[in-house]
Amino acid sequence: MAISDSSSRILAGLLEARTGQQLTMSRRWRIETALSSVLRARKIESIDELIAELVMNKDARLSEEVVEALLNNETYFFRDRAPFDMLHKELLPSIRTARASERKLSIWSAGCSTGQEAYSIAMMIAEDPLAWAGWDIEIVGTDVSRAVIDRAREGTFTHFEVQRGLGIQQTIRWFEEKGDQWRVVDQIRSKVRFEARSLFDAPPRPGKFDLVLCRNVLLYFDNNKRRMAFDRMAEAVKPDGGLLLGAGETVIGQTERFAADRDMRGIYRLTGGENADRRATGT
Ligand SMILES: C[S@@+](CC[C@H](N)C(=O)[O-])C[C@H]1O[C@@H](n2cnc3c(N)ncnc32)[C@H](O)[C@@H]1O
Repeated sequence: MAISDSSSRILAGLLEARTGQQLTMSRRWRIETALSSVLRARKIESIDELIAELVMNKDARLSEEVVEALLNNETYFFRDRAPFDMLHKELLPSIRTARASERKLSIWSAGCSTGQEAYSIAMMIAEDPLAWAGWDIEIVGTDVSRAVIDRAREGTFTHFEVQRGLGIQQTIRWFEEKGDQWRVVDQIRSKVRFEARSLFDAPPRPGKFDLVLCRNVLLYFDNNKRRMAFDRMAEAVKPDGGLLLGAGETVIGQTERFAADRDMRGIYRLTGGENADRRATGT
Protein backbone atom coordinates (compact mmCIF):
# COMPACT_ATOMS: atom_id res chain seq x y z
CA MET A 1 0.00 0.00 0.00
CA ALA A 2 1.70 3.23 -1.12
CA ILE A 3 1.29 6.23 1.16
CA SER A 4 0.92 9.54 -0.60
CA ASP A 5 3.20 12.43 0.30
CA SER A 6 0.25 14.45 1.53
CA SER A 7 -0.86 11.61 3.84
CA SER A 8 2.61 11.24 5.32
CA ARG A 9 2.82 15.02 5.77
CA ILE A 10 -0.48 15.03 7.69
CA LEU A 11 0.65 12.14 9.88
CA ALA A 12 4.03 13.78 10.49
CA GLY A 13 2.31 17.04 11.44
CA LEU A 14 -0.04 15.28 13.85
CA LEU A 15 2.79 13.36 15.52
CA GLU A 16 4.96 16.43 15.88
CA ALA A 17 2.14 18.60 17.23
CA ARG A 18 1.25 16.03 19.92
CA THR A 19 4.68 14.75 20.92
CA GLY A 20 7.44 16.85 19.34
CA GLN A 21 8.65 13.69 17.53
CA GLN A 22 9.68 13.94 13.88
CA LEU A 23 8.51 11.39 11.36
CA THR A 24 11.76 11.51 9.43
CA MET A 25 12.02 9.99 5.95
CA SER A 26 13.89 7.04 7.42
CA ARG A 27 10.93 6.31 9.71
CA ARG A 28 8.25 6.72 7.05
CA TRP A 29 8.61 3.15 5.83
CA ARG A 30 7.24 2.12 9.24
CA ILE A 31 3.97 4.00 8.83
CA GLU A 32 2.06 1.16 7.20
CA THR A 33 3.18 -1.46 9.70
CA ALA A 34 2.66 0.90 12.61
CA LEU A 35 -0.88 1.80 11.59
CA SER A 36 -2.00 -1.67 10.52
CA SER A 37 -3.54 -2.49 13.92
CA VAL A 38 -5.46 0.83 13.96
CA LEU A 39 -6.80 0.12 10.45
CA ARG A 40 -7.82 -3.40 11.47
CA ALA A 41 -9.46 -2.36 14.73
CA ARG A 42 -11.35 0.50 13.08
CA LYS A 43 -12.18 -1.52 9.95
CA ILE A 44 -10.62 1.18 7.78
CA GLU A 45 -9.40 -0.01 4.38
CA SER A 46 -6.46 2.27 3.65
CA ILE A 47 -4.23 4.97 5.10
CA ASP A 48 -5.81 7.55 2.80
CA GLU A 49 -9.24 6.62 4.17
CA LEU A 50 -7.82 6.96 7.68
CA ILE A 51 -6.47 10.41 6.87
CA ALA A 52 -9.85 11.46 5.45
CA GLU A 53 -11.49 10.27 8.69
CA LEU A 54 -8.97 12.24 10.75
CA VAL A 55 -9.30 15.41 8.72
CA MET A 56 -13.05 15.42 8.22
CA ASN A 57 -14.43 13.94 11.41
CA LYS A 58 -11.82 15.22 13.85
CA ASP A 59 -12.21 12.06 15.90
CA ALA A 60 -10.01 12.84 18.94
CA ARG A 61 -9.79 9.20 20.06
CA LEU A 62 -8.74 8.11 16.57
CA SER A 63 -6.02 10.73 16.34
CA GLU A 64 -4.70 9.65 19.75
CA GLU A 65 -4.61 6.02 18.56
CA VAL A 66 -2.77 7.07 15.40
CA VAL A 67 -0.16 9.09 17.33
CA GLU A 68 0.35 6.25 19.79
CA ALA A 69 0.81 3.76 16.96
CA LEU A 70 3.43 5.98 15.31
CA LEU A 71 5.57 6.32 18.44
CA ASN A 72 8.54 4.06 18.92
CA ASN A 73 7.96 2.38 22.30
CA GLU A 74 10.90 -0.02 22.18
CA THR A 75 12.17 -0.80 25.68
CA TYR A 76 13.27 -3.69 27.85
CA PHE A 77 14.28 -4.44 31.41
CA PHE A 78 17.78 -3.23 32.36
CA ARG A 79 18.22 -1.88 28.83
CA ASP A 80 21.91 -1.78 27.81
CA ARG A 81 22.82 -3.17 31.28
CA ALA A 82 25.97 -0.97 31.74
CA PRO A 83 24.03 2.18 32.80
CA PHE A 84 22.21 0.14 35.46
CA ASP A 85 25.52 -1.25 36.74
CA MET A 86 26.82 2.31 36.92
CA LEU A 87 23.69 3.47 38.78
CA HIS A 88 24.02 0.56 41.19
CA LYS A 89 27.74 0.89 41.85
CA GLU A 90 28.33 4.62 41.53
CA LEU A 91 25.46 7.04 41.22
CA LEU A 92 23.02 5.61 43.77
CA PRO A 93 25.72 5.15 46.45
CA SER A 94 26.82 8.76 45.89
CA ILE A 95 23.21 9.95 46.35
CA ARG A 96 22.95 7.79 49.48
CA THR A 97 25.94 9.60 50.92
CA ALA A 98 24.71 13.05 49.89
CA ARG A 99 21.20 12.47 51.31
CA ALA A 100 22.21 10.46 54.38
CA SER A 101 20.53 12.88 56.77
CA GLU A 102 17.15 13.25 55.03
CA ARG A 103 17.02 9.69 53.56
CA LYS A 104 14.94 10.65 50.54
CA LEU A 105 15.55 9.52 46.98
CA SER A 106 13.50 10.66 43.99
CA ILE A 107 13.80 9.33 40.44
CA TRP A 108 11.92 10.32 37.29
CA SER A 109 11.91 8.08 34.22
CA ALA A 110 10.83 10.46 31.42
CA GLY A 111 9.57 8.66 28.30
CA CYS A 112 9.25 5.41 30.25
CA SER A 113 7.19 3.51 27.64
CA THR A 114 5.65 0.39 29.22
CA GLY A 115 7.58 0.88 32.46
CA GLN A 116 10.51 -1.53 32.23
CA GLU A 117 13.07 1.21 33.03
CA ALA A 118 11.24 2.36 36.17
CA TYR A 119 10.60 -1.23 37.31
CA SER A 120 14.27 -2.13 36.71
CA ILE A 121 15.30 0.59 39.13
CA ALA A 122 12.68 -0.46 41.68
CA MET A 123 14.01 -4.06 41.47
CA MET A 124 17.60 -2.89 41.80
CA ILE A 125 16.77 -0.96 44.95
CA ALA A 126 14.69 -3.82 46.37
CA GLU A 127 17.67 -6.14 45.84
CA ASP A 128 19.73 -3.96 48.18
CA PRO A 129 17.40 -3.78 51.19
CA LEU A 130 20.02 -3.04 53.84
CA ALA A 131 21.44 -0.06 51.95
CA TRP A 132 17.96 1.45 51.52
CA ALA A 133 16.39 0.55 54.86
CA GLY A 134 14.40 3.50 56.21
CA TRP A 135 14.59 5.49 52.96
CA ASP A 136 11.61 7.29 51.46
CA ILE A 137 11.89 6.37 47.77
CA GLU A 138 9.88 7.86 44.93
CA ILE A 139 10.07 6.45 41.39
CA VAL A 140 7.81 8.03 38.80
CA GLY A 141 7.51 7.15 35.13
CA THR A 142 5.90 9.40 32.53
CA ASP A 143 5.15 9.01 28.85
CA VAL A 144 3.16 10.99 26.30
CA SER A 145 1.27 7.83 25.30
CA ARG A 146 -1.66 6.90 27.51
CA ALA A 147 -1.67 3.40 26.03
CA VAL A 148 1.84 2.59 27.26
CA ILE A 149 1.18 4.21 30.64
CA ASP A 150 -1.90 1.99 31.10
CA ARG A 151 0.29 -1.02 30.37
CA ALA A 152 3.04 0.22 32.69
CA ARG A 153 0.56 0.65 35.55
CA GLU A 154 -0.84 -2.81 34.95
CA GLY A 155 2.70 -4.20 35.12
CA THR A 156 1.90 -7.30 33.11
CA PHE A 157 4.40 -8.48 30.53
CA THR A 158 4.65 -11.29 28.01
CA HIS A 159 7.17 -14.06 28.36
CA PHE A 160 9.22 -12.47 25.58
CA GLU A 161 9.26 -9.06 27.31
CA VAL A 162 10.34 -10.56 30.63
CA GLN A 163 13.06 -12.66 29.01
CA ARG A 164 14.55 -9.54 27.40
CA GLY A 165 16.83 -8.31 30.16
CA LEU A 166 15.84 -10.47 33.12
CA GLY A 167 17.31 -13.76 34.26
CA ILE A 168 15.29 -16.62 35.73
CA GLN A 169 16.10 -15.64 39.33
CA GLN A 170 14.85 -12.08 38.92
CA THR A 171 11.77 -13.27 37.05
CA ILE A 172 10.83 -15.70 39.79
CA ARG A 173 11.56 -13.20 42.52
CA TRP A 174 9.78 -10.13 41.13
CA PHE A 175 6.95 -11.53 38.97
CA GLU A 176 3.98 -13.79 39.44
CA GLU A 177 2.68 -15.92 36.61
CA LYS A 178 -0.74 -14.90 35.29
CA GLY A 179 -1.79 -17.38 32.62
CA ASP A 180 0.80 -16.99 29.87
CA GLN A 181 1.92 -13.57 31.19
CA TRP A 182 3.98 -12.27 34.09
CA ARG A 183 2.85 -9.58 36.50
CA VAL A 184 5.25 -7.49 38.58
CA VAL A 185 4.69 -8.31 42.26
CA ASP A 186 2.89 -5.74 44.44
CA GLN A 187 6.07 -5.08 46.42
CA ILE A 188 7.67 -3.59 43.28
CA ARG A 189 4.55 -2.21 41.61
CA SER A 190 3.63 -0.21 44.69
CA LYS A 191 7.02 1.55 44.56
CA VAL A 192 6.46 3.02 41.11
CA ARG A 193 3.92 5.60 39.94
CA PHE A 194 3.06 6.28 36.30
CA GLU A 195 1.54 9.33 34.65
CA ALA A 196 0.60 10.12 31.05
CA ARG A 197 2.34 13.39 30.38
CA SER A 198 4.51 14.94 27.68
CA LEU A 199 8.03 16.10 28.38
CA PHE A 200 6.86 19.51 27.21
CA ASP A 201 4.27 19.71 30.01
CA ALA A 202 5.22 20.43 33.59
CA PRO A 203 7.27 17.70 35.34
CA PRO A 204 5.24 15.03 37.17
CA ARG A 205 5.24 17.07 40.35
CA PRO A 206 6.63 20.38 41.57
CA GLY A 207 10.07 20.09 43.12
CA LYS A 208 13.21 18.46 41.89
CA PHE A 209 14.54 14.93 41.42
CA ASP A 210 17.85 13.32 42.36
CA LEU A 211 17.95 11.46 39.07
CA VAL A 212 16.13 11.95 35.77
CA LEU A 213 16.36 9.24 33.13
CA CYS A 214 15.47 10.29 29.61
CA ARG A 215 16.79 7.50 27.43
CA ASN A 216 16.07 6.96 23.76
CA VAL A 217 13.42 9.69 23.71
CA LEU A 218 15.29 12.72 22.38
CA LEU A 219 16.50 10.99 19.22
CA TYR A 220 13.51 12.02 17.11
CA PHE A 221 13.14 15.61 18.30
CA ASP A 222 14.48 18.41 16.14
CA ASN A 223 17.19 20.63 17.68
CA ASN A 224 14.72 23.18 18.97
CA LYS A 225 12.50 20.60 20.69
CA ARG A 226 15.53 18.81 22.09
CA ARG A 227 16.75 22.06 23.60
CA MET A 228 13.30 22.65 25.10
CA ALA A 229 13.29 19.13 26.55
CA PHE A 230 16.71 19.70 28.13
CA ASP A 231 15.40 22.95 29.62
CA ARG A 232 12.46 21.09 31.15
CA MET A 233 14.75 18.49 32.64
CA ALA A 234 17.20 21.11 33.89
CA GLU A 235 14.34 22.60 35.88
CA ALA A 236 13.50 19.18 37.34
CA VAL A 237 16.98 18.02 38.46
CA LYS A 238 18.41 18.93 41.87
CA PRO A 239 21.58 21.03 41.68
CA ASP A 240 23.69 17.99 42.63
CA GLY A 241 21.43 15.48 40.82
CA GLY A 242 22.05 13.65 37.56
CA LEU A 243 20.51 13.15 34.14
CA LEU A 244 20.96 9.79 32.40
CA LEU A 245 20.60 9.71 28.61
CA GLY A 246 20.50 6.77 26.19
CA ALA A 247 23.61 5.16 24.78
CA GLY A 248 23.53 7.13 21.52
CA GLU A 249 22.53 10.46 23.05
CA THR A 250 24.58 13.39 24.23
CA VAL A 251 24.24 17.00 25.31
CA ILE A 252 27.13 18.13 23.12
CA GLY A 253 25.94 20.78 20.71
CA GLN A 254 22.37 20.43 22.07
CA THR A 255 22.26 22.41 25.30
CA GLU A 256 24.47 24.37 27.64
CA ARG A 257 22.36 23.41 30.67
CA PHE A 258 24.09 20.02 31.20
CA ALA A 259 27.62 18.69 30.86
CA ALA A 260 29.00 15.14 31.05
CA ASP A 261 30.09 13.91 34.45
CA ARG A 262 33.85 13.32 34.48
CA ASP A 263 33.62 9.92 36.16
CA MET A 264 30.16 8.47 35.60
CA ARG A 265 29.58 7.44 32.01
CA GLY A 266 26.20 8.51 30.63
CA ILE A 267 25.49 10.88 33.54
CA TYR A 268 25.08 14.59 32.87
CA ARG A 269 25.23 17.31 35.53
CA LEU A 270 23.69 20.73 35.57
CA THR A 271 26.21 23.33 34.58
CA GLY A 272 26.90 25.85 37.32
CA GLY A 273 29.20 26.36 40.28
CA GLU A 274 28.21 23.34 42.35
CA ASN A 275 29.19 20.80 39.69
CA ALA A 276 32.37 22.37 38.34
CA ASP A 277 34.60 19.63 39.79
CA ARG A 278 32.42 16.82 38.41
CA ARG A 279 32.33 17.95 34.79
CA ALA A 280 34.46 16.45 32.07
CA THR A 281 36.58 19.08 30.36
CA GLY A 282 35.45 20.17 26.95
CA THR A 283 31.84 18.95 27.28
C1 LIG B 1 12.07 4.25 22.57
S1 LIG B 1 11.06 4.50 23.99
C2 LIG B 1 12.29 4.51 25.25
C3 LIG B 1 11.79 3.92 26.55
C4 LIG B 1 12.82 3.86 27.68
N1 LIG B 1 13.20 5.19 28.08
C5 LIG B 1 14.03 3.08 27.24
O1 LIG B 1 15.06 3.67 26.94
O2 LIG B 1 13.96 1.85 27.20
C6 LIG B 1 10.67 6.25 23.81
C7 LIG B 1 9.44 6.65 24.57
O3 LIG B 1 9.36 8.08 24.58
C8 LIG B 1 8.00 8.45 24.51
N2 LIG B 1 7.88 9.84 24.08
C9 LIG B 1 8.02 10.36 22.84
N3 LIG B 1 7.81 11.69 22.84
C10 LIG B 1 7.53 12.02 24.12
C11 LIG B 1 7.21 13.25 24.78
N4 LIG B 1 7.12 14.40 24.11
N5 LIG B 1 6.98 13.22 26.11
C12 LIG B 1 7.06 12.06 26.81
N6 LIG B 1 7.33 10.87 26.24
C13 LIG B 1 7.58 10.84 24.92
C14 LIG B 1 7.40 7.44 23.53
O4 LIG B 1 5.99 7.33 23.66
C15 LIG B 1 8.14 6.17 23.92
O5 LIG B 1 7.41 5.38 24.81
